[in-house]
Amino acid sequence: MATTTDAGRHFPPDFLWGAATAAYQIEGAADEGGRGPSIWDTFSHTPGRVLDGDTGDVADDHYHRWEDDLDLMVRLGLPAYRFSIAWPRIQPDGRGAANQFGLDHYRRLVDGLLERGIEPIVTLYHWDLPQALEDAGGWPARDTAMRFGDYAELVGAALGDRVDRWITLNEPWCSAFLGYASGVHAPGRTEPAAALAAAHHLNLAHGLGVQALRSVLPAGSSVSITLNLHLVRPATDEPEDQDAARQIDAIGNRIWLGPILDGGYPDDLQDDTAGRTDWSFVRDGDVAMIAEPLDLLGVNYYQPTVVRRRRDGEEPQVSHGHGESAESPFVGADTVAFVEQPGPVTAMGWPIDASGMEELLLQVHAAYPNLPLMVTENGAAFDDEVSDDGQVHDPRRIAYVDDHLRAVGRAIDAGADVRGYLLWSLLDNFEWAYGYSRRFGIAHVDYDTQTRTVKDSGWWYRDVIAAGGLAAHDG
Ligand code: FCB
Repeated sequence: MATTTDAGRHFPPDFLWGAATAAYQIEGAADEGGRGPSIWDTFSHTPGRVLDGDTGDVADDHYHRWEDDLDLMVRLGLPAYRFSIAWPRIQPDGRGAANQFGLDHYRRLVDGLLERGIEPIVTLYHWDLPQALEDAGGWPARDTAMRFGDYAELVGAALGDRVDRWITLNEPWCSAFLGYASGVHAPGRTEPAAALAAAHHLNLAHGLGVQALRSVLPAGSSVSITLNLHLVRPATDEPEDQDAARQIDAIGNRIWLGPILDGGYPDDLQDDTAGRTDWSFVRDGDVAMIAEPLDLLGVNYYQPTVVRRRRDGEEPQVSHGHGESAESPFVGADTVAFVEQPGPVTAMGWPIDASGMEELLLQVHAAYPNLPLMVTENGAAFDDEVSDDGQVHDPRRIAYVDDHLRAVGRAIDAGADVRGYLLWSLLDNFEWAYGYSRRFGIAHVDYDTQTRTVKDSGWWYRDVIAAGGLAAHDG
């Protein structure tokens, strides 16, 4: 149990501390090692899709600089590192035999981590679908789920002897609804019905991925999924606003939790979306495949969401907290309005509210008391610069992480079984549709020289990890 004293907050001794990244956001080397194109290559090279025309062609050049980056992790004292494997490095066309070169790259990376005493946590899919699979229909096509099962088996078989912790998908909500409904993420389609099919096929891919991993991993390996669960608050106690919150909870959260953990898609979700689809893409036996037992649930939390019912005559919103698009990512929830919240925001415009972290972890724990949780992402973007003294002073990031860690600690005190915290992100990187304009790293990256400079928050985090918790607040 975490304890709060005047001296600060200590976390359980086996609490896993770490940092996270994702392949397309840091690797670069888009044409090397036999890598095929992904939907993010296509999307970022399409004018107007990514701010300033940025692409992941070079990114942090981590593909070449991985050893230096591992040494950086050592300097930060990171016990764990969550990264993702680029599917198009393993299967350039998304199907068929593995590209040995790609597997070898990740094997070297994993060995480098293990040699340095850093625990690898592998995410199999962090949004970089092989373009060939998109050309064949993408996530709205059922076959993509099957292909993911094959890919999971290839990677599990190759790395299972040295990686204990596995995550199938990262934030499938973003893949389905930002990718296929609002279109602000790759592949940039605005087809709400297809987005619902994509969601189901992502769930199916997860289930098939779990099965595939279990078939090749040693017993005792941990298999999970990472969800960006929306902590939704109704703007008022009025029934219509509460119902708006219910709808966002359905299309944001229970569309995953339902089939994965509760045995099926919620009725209210199906009612809300009935005007868009008849759900005939769900076949007999699918839900059983999706409901494979998990060892842990990864939770990403950045900000709360406040909603109310749109009043008669009010225009639909084009901003839903996830970029501008005429088409809402919250399919079937067209009459929900997203309420701007008072108070400070990050460079993403996301409100800073750590109470949502505590509330979310407690909600999930109450619903699934026997399922261990891990915060697989949390962090903040600010406009960081290297100062004249050569350092990067980012007190607001320190305050953000400090507050959110305290919230995690309170959730643990209240009974939530939270096993670790992985900060987003190790490095400044390609922040999807925002390109390189948003800096989430605890290490600054100069994109002209690829110089890494540990920010104040990085050194602070090193001290937190070394102390196993937080010092007393002095402010
Ligand atoms: C999450 C993504 C991650 C990063 C952070 C800021 O939604 O998983 O790649 O972009 O947001």
